[in-house]
Amino acid sequence: MIALGIEGTAHTLGIGIVTEDRVLANVFDTLTTEKGGIHPKEAAEHHARLLKPLLRKALEKASVSMDDVDVIAFSQGPGLGPALRVVATAARALAIRYNKPIVGVNHCIAHVEITKMFGVKDPVGLYVSGGNTQVLALEGGRYRVFGETLDIGIGNAIDTFAREIGLGFPGGPKIERLAHKGERYIELPYAVKGMDLSFSGLLTEAVRKYRSGRYRIEDLAYSFQETAFAALVEVTERALAHTGKGEVVLVGGVAANNRLRKMLKTMAGDRGVDFFVPPYDLCRDNGAMIAYTGLRMFKAGVSFSLEETAVKQKFRTDEVEVVWA
Ligand code: ATP
Ligand code: FE2
Repeated sequence: MIALGIEGTAHTLGIGIVTEDRVLANVFDTLTTEKGGIHPKEAAEHHARLLKPLLRKALEKASVSMDDVDVIAFSQGPGLGPALRVVATAARALAIRYNKPIVGVNHCIAHVEITKMFGVKDPVGLYVSGGNTQVLALEGGRYRVFGETLDIGIGNAIDTFAREIGLGFPGGPKIERLAHKGERYIELPYAVKGMDLSFSGLLTEAVRKYRSGRYRIEDLAYSFQETAFAALVEVTERALAHTGKGEVVLVGGVAANNRLRKMLKTMAGDRGVDFFVPPYDLCRDNGAMIAYTGLRMFKAGVSFSLEETAVKQKFRTDEVEVVWA
């Protein structure tokens, strides 16, 4: 069976074509702006402009035609309204034109589900990106959120810090490089609040300390990462303890960070649970994860009427009944 997936919740438009166990194509294009930040209308225009060329590229790469596709999946939310609507409209148009079934996919769930293509069975997921930070796992037929950010996503926190210290966008890889040269830990506000996370206090204090001129930026970058990542690992460990699951996966754009990988891996090793990170193109926002989740949903009997394809800007992770797992 072959699924085509379209991702477009934020600044990346992605188109993926997959089978049950293989990625045939996974192409994307990201709207980048010098300053970062959120641009709903620009993202929508970007997606509308690139849909056709990207679709052609994906089909070419996968060596399939639209007729070979069994189901069309799209990112239904959560995300930026205008961007979501472009993607949903495109998915509907393709479904009608080629007479194919259509399924709407929850973006956060798809980030975790794609790990199952690699043999992961039932993990706790740490999903960390620019806009999202969530610890999620299946419990009682739904993905429950065991902890999430109460304010900004960890990626946005890192990007904003990087911008404030003059590094430009995206800040993640630059902060990671700087942090590597850090020598001294500088105390910063720890980000765990109950089971949830909060990065705005950490960000404000790190910027304040930078402006004071009394600290090396390498030490600040290092301390920022250590503090934020320790909080992420703590909440993930608590979700593992609560659920008793034997696998943990790291997904989302921030999964690129080697320090975070190492910290999570160490925790997993100490607890005796398996640790997995997908290849980076399946970690960041991408169409293959949408296609794969849509394929699993469809195989379990899920198929949407056109009325059911309305976008959900605030699509909650625990709204979806996971009938396919
Ligand atoms: P979402 O819509 O899911 O929030 P996104 O639009 O933020 O996703 P992604 O590609 O998933 O897009 O993630 C991008 C984020 O990942 C950026 O904030 C970027 O700084 C961060 N990032 C990339 N590489 C690294 C790294 N090495 N260390 C830390 N953060 C990183
Ligand atoms: Fe994402």
